[in-house]
Amino acid sequence: MNEQTTTDLRETVRLRYAAAAARVAEGDAACCGPEPVEVDENFGSSLYAADDRDALPAGAVAASLGCGNPTAVAELRAGEHVLDLGSGGGIDVLLSARRVGPTGKAYGVDMTDEMLQLALSNAEKAGATNVEFLKGTIETIPLPANTVDVVISNCVINLSTDKPAVFAETFRVLKPGGRIGVFDVVADDTLTSAERGDRGDHVGCIAGALSFAEYREGLQAAGFAGVEITPTHAVADGMHSAIIRAVKPVAVDAPSGMTESVDACCGVNACCTPAETSADPALTVTEAKSASGCGCQN
Ligand SMILES: C[S@@+](CC[C@H](N)C(=O)[O-])C[C@H]1O[C@@H](n2cnc3c(N)ncnc32)[C@H](O)[C@@H]1O
Repeated sequence: MNEQTTTDLRETVRLRYAAAAARVAEGDAACCGPEPVEVDENFGSSLYAADDRDALPAGAVAASLGCGNPTAVAELRAGEHVLDLGSGGGIDVLLSARRVGPTGKAYGVDMTDEMLQLALSNAEKAGATNVEFLKGTIETIPLPANTVDVVISNCVINLSTDKPAVFAETFRVLKPGGRIGVFDVVADDTLTSAERGDRGDHVGCIAGALSFAEYREGLQAAGFAGVEITPTHAVADGMHSAIIRAVKPVAVDAPSGMTESVDACCGVNACCTPAETSADPALTVTEAKSASGCGCQN
């Protein structure tokens, strides 16, 4: 895909979700409340348990555009830090915030201003204090390395025009031993890209879907282990909503083939903790971080 096509596609996605957010916000301000914006029964709030829906503001439920409930599969624990890629109107951030409790935190990252505004308004209505919505893309996540316990996402990775970057960034922000619990659309391995495009468009979460093998290989290439992809329901012929799970190993193979601690990924041991030391005794911590060229420069 050339640079112009990538930019155009991302802008088309942004416009589509900006319009959905505006529709929900208008409905929220009207007397009868917001109408759901999901396209059909395979997407949206009907995929959540009634008690999850009932605990949230109407605007968060109405803006739901995912293909599952990632908070139900990510086994979130009190005190954990969770990141939702493509957080939309905030439904999964708000549910995560309830699960991780006051000692934990739920972040959402989204590139669409209208969705971020809607999510902030929903967080205020929900009285959620342990949430933060960040403007940014899932290909360049605005968080430091090794800081998140769990990454969730709901039907967003298929929309990315640079999935290797999404997987690499997800790996970077997760702590060693951190995990992903994502819902996404996945295609049968036999379907070509053109056949996926015949079944639906990119902004509707169909044409950009990876196959099972592509998803697995993409996550493994980024360093993930224990990849499991479990289809839940069909969304088109040969295409499925699926749960994707994987973990960031506590130790990874260094490019040389030697095993090193992932904590040394920024050129320092115990990166970004008070105990950090330079992996190269000839360098200071600051010099080692800047020589490594990785995102953790603080
Ligand atoms: C299908 S909606 C899903 C929203 C939410 N996860 C949910 O379940 O309702 C896609 C969301 O991802 C955001 N998005 C799409 N591509 C993105 C990207 N490359 N970086 C950041 N956000 C993106 C859109 O702005 C939109 O809010």
